[in-house]
Amino acid sequence: MTENSSATAFAPATVANLGVGFDILGLAVNGLGDTVHVERQATSGVIIADIIGDNGKLPRDPQKNTAAVAAAATLRLLGADFGVRLTLEKGLPLASGLGSSAASAVAAAVAVNALAGELLPRHELLPACLEAEAVVSGYHADNVGPSLLGGITLITGTSADDIRHLPIPPSLHLALITPAIAVPTVEARAVLPQSISLHDMVHQTGAVARVIDALYRGDIHTLALAMEADIVVEPARAHLIPHLDALRFAAKRAGALGLVISGAGPTLAAICIDQTIAKRVADAVCAVYESDGITCTAHVSSVDEAGAKVINVVA
Ligand code: HSE
Repeated sequence: MTENSSATAFAPATVANLGVGFDILGLAVNGLGDTVHVERQATSGVIIADIIGDNGKLPRDPQKNTAAVAAAATLRLLGADFGVRLTLEKGLPLASGLGSSAASAVAAAVAVNALAGELLPRHELLPACLEAEAVVSGYHADNVGPSLLGGITLITGTSADDIRHLPIPPSLHLALITPAIAVPTVEARAVLPQSISLHDMVHQTGAVARVIDALYRGDIHTLALAMEADIVVEPARAHLIPHLDALRFAAKRAGALGLVISGAGPTLAAICIDQTIAKRVADAVCAVYESDGITCTAHVSSVDEAGAKVINVVA
């Protein structure tokens, strides 16, 4: 095994679900994400050296911290005879619907693998990332999958065969609007129905099929409509996102083709055909929040095709 002494990796934010594809569809977002730096130590296990940018909110206990859990699981996968000291730099707000815990886990797994000379192919890190994600927000791969592998992914399990990259329409731009309210994923999952009617199942699977077909045809108008056609998850969560109808209306009036809850929320993702429209949409949605005294941050972005990357390795 290569004996690198330290490594740093970045993992992007993600928009999970793509509206209707609960727990099976997600995309990686350009430019936003978390960074993890790991240093080799002779003793086994993971020590959290520092966490930057979380205002002291994340657990420092390695058993409960998603980055540390992913690092420990990756060390196990590698059969490593060393441990790591880990520093997590949060670029993402917590409980925001941008796959914050997943990005921390993925950056940690990729950094630890880089320490070992990239011994494992990227997709083999997926179980380690999933184990970490399960600690904080449940066992679902629609954040860790695209954060690890990039692009738009259909992800229905934990093995390489369960992950499919879907085509990225070239004109797909996103306005991502995050209000200053936290919606922990576990709470947003607790409000979901445990069973649905046959009628709703037919509608929902039809909408997922339309999303995938639209991606293959590069038809972002149909894509946006199909993403919004969720009659199961969004209605159950709508009360967690203040003013959702008014926000969708404002986004569309400003030129968005559609607007969905990003992951478990509260971030909203609007589908737009170019950057200028996406900026206008972001401003319009923020204005609705701000008129109610809720501050928000917005980003205009596109799909990150590459996913997590190693930034630096020191031999
Ligand atoms: N699919 C998950 C959910 C994503 O909607 O609960 C959480 O980020």
